[in-house]
Amino acid sequence: MSLLDKFVHTNISQPYILVCSSKAQMLFSKELLDKESILNELIPTPKGFGGVCTTAIKFDKKFEKKVEDIVKENRISYQGIYSLEHKYKYDLTEIYEFKISDRFRKIVKKVEANIELQKEEVKFLLGINNKSEYKALIKMADIIRKECVGDRIELRAAIEFSNYCGKNCNYCGVRRDNSTHRYRMSEEEILQEVDKLYKIGIKTVILQSGEDPYYTTDMILSIVKEIKDRYKMGITLSIGERKEEEYKLFSEAGVNNYLLKIETANERLFNKIHPDDSYDDRVSHHGFIKNAGIRLGSGGMIGLPSQTMDEISEDIIFQRDFGVHMIGFGPFLPAKGTPYAEEKKGDLDLTLKVVAITRIICQHVFLPATTAIASLHPDGQTLALKAGANTIMLISTPQHLRENYQIYSKKNMVDLSFAIKSTEEAGRKLPKYLNYEYIKQLGYRIDDKLIN
Ligand code: 5AD
Ligand code: SF4
Repeated sequence: MSLLDKFVHTNISQPYILVCSSKAQMLFSKELLDKESILNELIPTPKGFGGVCTTAIKFDKKFEKKVEDIVKENRISYQGIYSLEHKYKYDLTEIYEFKISDRFRKIVKKVEANIELQKEEVKFLLGINNKSEYKALIKMADIIRKECVGDRIELRAAIEFSNYCGKNCNYCGVRRDNSTHRYRMSEEEILQEVDKLYKIGIKTVILQSGEDPYYTTDMILSIVKEIKDRYKMGITLSIGERKEEEYKLFSEAGVNNYLLKIETANERLFNKIHPDDSYDDRVSHHGFIKNAGIRLGSGGMIGLPSQTMDEISEDIIFQRDFGVHMIGFGPFLPAKGTPYAEEKKGDLDLTLKVVAITRIICQHVFLPATTAIASLHPDGQTLALKAGANTIMLISTPQHLRENYQIYSKKNMVDLSFAIKSTEEAGRKLPKYLNYEYIKQLGYRIDDKLIN
């Protein structure tokens, strides 16, 4: 059995899902199912069965009765047990108005009926290179995005609190061997930044760093606890691979999301670009995070040296099959001083196609218009939003430190003004939860139509 099979049970042939009323109930149910040896896996709740970015437990029809008995006996508070045979159907009539090939038309029919696409079909979509089919692909993703996550973008903010890293990933500008000014923020400095975000109404803060063991489990837990106590904000950690037990502790402390990208789902390429990592470990960590009850953020880079279209198709399918909640795909960008400094950067249209296909096959998930795509092209963020993305991440590292967090060169320091501009250009709306009165006092000009 391959490691991937340990976490992704493709032998659930007649999928059913159990949707619980809370994360605690979901984790408890999973424990009970595991104890009874009922094959199950955690997936983002599909459209039509619950809120976006919630988690459902998938299992096979043959266990339906048993699962029902277990949840009832244990007084689990749950929303329902559903067959995935009657999945949400999309109305894609508009797509047939584009000039598209018969092969494309067949794929559109499958997407309409919500039948899983196979790798060859994903590869076909990825290979599209005529204007009309490209437009149809982007439109199809846009329709599904609107159905699944609506018109309001999700705005999150990242504090890159340390650029020390013990690893030497060949593509990364803050790799161990790169000479750059290193910094670490103290808990108090981090909390000061979080305070600013809280005041503008941001709901989720992303704490990002290199793999820096200076921040012990206790230190991270202390920061998490302070943020939860003072601000009750959502927390995403992006601090690299940690121990399985640590993910559990983070989950108990209230960490909501963990960002650990697979970067590439292809073992050969993964090992080539990561001298200090193992592909199997990275896959295992994806499983640890999910099973700790934390929503998993993954994704990867498009246009890595030697990466093939076949591999990119597998990257997208990996995200779907692994049940990833937040999927960030961005172009590879050469970073100064790294072994890949002279390599070619990723292609804009190819990255946009990846975003679109990811939305089409993963559907009810969060897709960021990544900082990398905003750095590749001035319109990259707007175009990604139009191609299925719904999330923007602000760079909220203190001004005097952010230049040192150059994971790639010419990074776009996406700020609130930039995010507002992309949202407007993409014809979308800003989130309801921001504190607009305060934001306007700070001098930002926002058209009310973006809010209401
Ligand atoms: N080009 C594009 N993306 C990069 N990242 C790191 N280095 C690069 C690069 N050179 C992305 C990776 C990583 C995230 C923090 O930034 O996907 O997970
Ligand atoms: Fe370190 Fe992450 Fe960069 Fe790798 S990608 S060198 S782990 S910061």
